[in-house]
Amino acid sequence: MIRPALLSALLAAALLPAAPPTLHEALVAARADRAGDPGVAAAFQRLARAHGTPLYIYDRAHIQAQARALKAAFGPRFPKLRILYALKANTNPTVIGLLREEGLGAEVVSVGEIETALRVGYKGPEIMFTSSSKGPGEIRRAIALGTVLNVDSLDELGQVQAEAKRQGRKARVSFRINPGVDPHTIHQINTGISESKFGLHLEGGLAFKAYERAAAMPEIALEGAHCHIGSQITEAEGYILTAKKMLGLVKELKERLNLKLAFLDLGGGIGIPYRDGQQVMSPEDLATALQPVWKEGVAAAGYEPTLWLEPGRFFVGGAGTLLVRVNTVKQTPLKTFVNVDAGFNTLMRPAMYQAYHRVRVVGKTQDPTLVDIAGDVCETGDILAEARTLPRPVAGDLVAILDAGAYGFSMASEYNARPLPAEVMVDGDRATVLRRRGSHGDLFRNTGAKAGGK
Ligand code: LLP
Repeated sequence: MIRPALLSALLAAALLPAAPPTLHEALVAARADRAGDPGVAAAFQRLARAHGTPLYIYDRAHIQAQARALKAAFGPRFPKLRILYALKANTNPTVIGLLREEGLGAEVVSVGEIETALRVGYKGPEIMFTSSSKGPGEIRRAIALGTVLNVDSLDELGQVQAEAKRQGRKARVSFRINPGVDPHTIHQINTGISESKFGLHLEGGLAFKAYERAAAMPEIALEGAHCHIGSQITEAEGYILTAKKMLGLVKELKERLNLKLAFLDLGGGIGIPYRDGQQVMSPEDLATALQPVWKEGVAAAGYEPTLWLEPGRFFVGGAGTLLVRVNTVKQTPLKTFVNVDAGFNTLMRPAMYQAYHRVRVVGKTQDPTLVDIAGDVCETGDILAEARTLPRPVAGDLVAILDAGAYGFSMASEYNARPLPAEVMVDGDRATVLRRRGSHGDLFRNTGAKAGGK
C-alpha cells in the first residue's frame, strides 16, 4: 500500500521535467560526454551569453576536490608534509587564493609571480622561488622578503651571497638538483634528465660541492634540497627513483657535512588524464609507492626532513574548460575544418606540445563526422584538435575544450592582435568573473597610441 503523500511525490517526479543542471553539474556532465544534453547545452549557452567566447571556465569544486585528494593521500602517510601550489599553471589570483585557503604554500618562478602571491595574501617566507635564471632585482626582492631561493648554479649562489651580505640578512636557500631521471613525459617538459638546463647535477658530485661551498657561507641559511623531474607524469616510477637518489644526497650531506635539511622537495609534475578512459596514477598510488622508499631513506639518513611537493596542473588542469564558438565550417578535398574563435594565442598546448584536449560539441549528438578543430590564428600549425569524430558542428555552435585549466590562460598571448579571453569561476549555479575580457585598447597599452585612429 503506497501512502498518498508518497504517491503524489512519485507522480510529480514522473510528470515534472528534471531540474536543469546547475553550471557546475553541466561542467561535470560535459566531462562525462553529455555536452549534447539540452540542459547541459543551456548552461553553456547561458555562460556564453553572459560572458562571451572564448571563455575560460573554472570549476571551484574540482580545484578544491583535487587539493583535498592530494592532502588525503599524503597527509596520513607523511606526517611531515608541506604542499605548495606551482602558480605558473594558473596565475589567476582567485584560483591561487582558493588553493591558499586549502593550506598550500606558493612555488613561483618570477618576481611577477612573487608579487601575485603577495597580493593574494602569502607572506614572503611562505614562498619558494625557483628559476634557473634569476635577475639581480629578483634575487634582491626574494632575499628582502625572506623567500626561499631555489638556487640553480654556483654562479647564482655567489650572487645570492653577495646580495645577502649587502642587505645584512641571511638568504634562505635550497638547491635545485638535477637527479638525472627520465620520467618519460613530453620532451619539452622533461626537466630532470642530464641534458636539461635545470639544476645542479648529482652526477659528478656537483650538487654535493654546492652544499659544501654554501655551508661555509655565513650569509646563507641552507634549508633544503629540491628537484622537479618533469610535468604530466603518469607513473610513479620516476618519482621513486628520484626520491631514492635525493634521499641518498640527504644522507651524504648529513654524514660528510653534518648538515641536516629542513625539507626535501620532490617537485610537481603529477599528471592528469587528458583522454577519455586514460588511466593515470592517483595520488594514493603515488603516496603508497613512495612511502616505503621514504621510510627507508630517512632511516638511513638518521633524520626526517619535511617532504615538500609542488604540483600545479594536478589542482587546476581538469577544473578548466575553454568554451569557444564555431565561426565557419569548411570542407576541403582532404578534411573538414571547424574554424573556431580561439587559437594557440588562447590555448597554446596543442600547437606547442601536440597536446591532446578532449572536445565536446555543445547541444549536438547526431551525425558523427571526422573534423579538425582549427584556431583563428594565421598559421598552419594552429589546430586545436586533430582528426576527431564529433557530432557535426555548424556555424554558431559552442564547443567545449576540456582540461584547459592548467597552462591555458597562463600561456595565452595577444598574438594576431586578439585581446586575452575572460576567465570565470563556477560555484554551484553561479559564475563569477575572475578576469574581464581584454580590450582592443589593451593591444596598444604602453605604446602611446590612442584608440580611434587619431
Ligand atoms: N615545479 C617546477 C620547478 C616546475 O618547473 C613546474 C612546471 C612545476 C613545479 C609544476 O609542474 P606541474 O605539476 O604543473 O606539472 N606548459 C607545459 C608544462 C610546463 C611545466 C613547467 N614547469 C604544459 O602545458 O604541459
